[in-house]
Amino acid sequence: MNNRQCILSLIIFILAQSSLAADRPKFELTSTGLAHSLKAQSIDVGHDPVYKSAKQYQAYPLADIIKKLAIPDGQQSDDWMVVFTATDGYKVAMTYPDALQEQGYIAFKDNSAGTNNWLPFKSGKKTITPEPYYLVWPKAGLDEWRYPWPFQLTTVSLQPATEYYGAAAPTNSNNPQVKNGFSLFSRYCIRCHSVNLAGGNVGPELNIPKNVSEYFQEQELAGFIRNAPTYRAGTKMPSFETLISTEETQAIVHYLNQKKYEKIQ
Ligand code: HEC
Repeated sequence: MNNRQCILSLIIFILAQSSLAADRPKFELTSTGLAHSLKAQSIDVGHDPVYKSAKQYQAYPLADIIKKLAIPDGQQSDDWMVVFTATDGYKVAMTYPDALQEQGYIAFKDNSAGTNNWLPFKSGKKTITPEPYYLVWPKAGLDEWRYPWPFQLTTVSLQPATEYYGAAAPTNSNNPQVKNGFSLFSRYCIRCHSVNLAGGNVGPELNIPKNVSEYFQEQELAGFIRNAPTYRAGTKMPSFETLISTEETQAIVHYLNQKKYEKIQ
């Protein structure tokens, strides 16, 4: 390939990528006409984690919204994320199968708010409301890591996991243990930890320049992941003992091990 061909194919590649990104299935919650295309219902939430009390909302079933966002033909639903975006750009995602596993609802009105749609609550130092939309899960006792409650939502969209998580996603995704491990890592860990510099920064980066498996003994790594407070007093890392089984911890370790061969340059 000569230089000009090379530049041309790069431009075509970039165009193809950007049109791909633009085609991601997306649902604007705030668009007019939403009320006509979905059926609202009254739902009871026994213990709302934001208001810390029982609540009743007017809401649309999440499944009805997701059904409007088709996954492209021939692709596996568990390779896709359902992404919730809030007014301030904050994003939270769940795997496509998780989003349909339990009955989630997109609430648009708090029945106890009278003529207003919402009641205020304290978030850090600010007093805010969930306006315009709030994701809620009526079933009691669901794991909040797996079933998040984001508020001030504006859009629900679909994105491939590899694209959403960037360099933290495994390149070798054919290995089912690595794949499962990454799915668990994305649910419980990535909001605090980055891998290949992609992810949160509350905890340390786990792959660059050294992968944790390069300086932790494997058994101890698994033990630490399940119950960090039994290793370090005062750690900010929560215990996952009641949420993650030993097999699941092993899958996370497999995923972390794999990333040692997939370091970004
Ligand atoms: C709420 C934030 C938070 C979450 C969620 C979290 N961690 Fe951590 N993690 C930390 C912090 C902070 C540290 C830093 C060291 C400490 O306090 O012990 C840490 C330390 C670690 C370490 C030790 C790294 C080192 O080099 O010392 C590993 C490994 C680790 N976390 C893995 C995980 C895995 C795997 C998950 C998901 C199951 C997870 N963490 C979830 C906050 C978190």
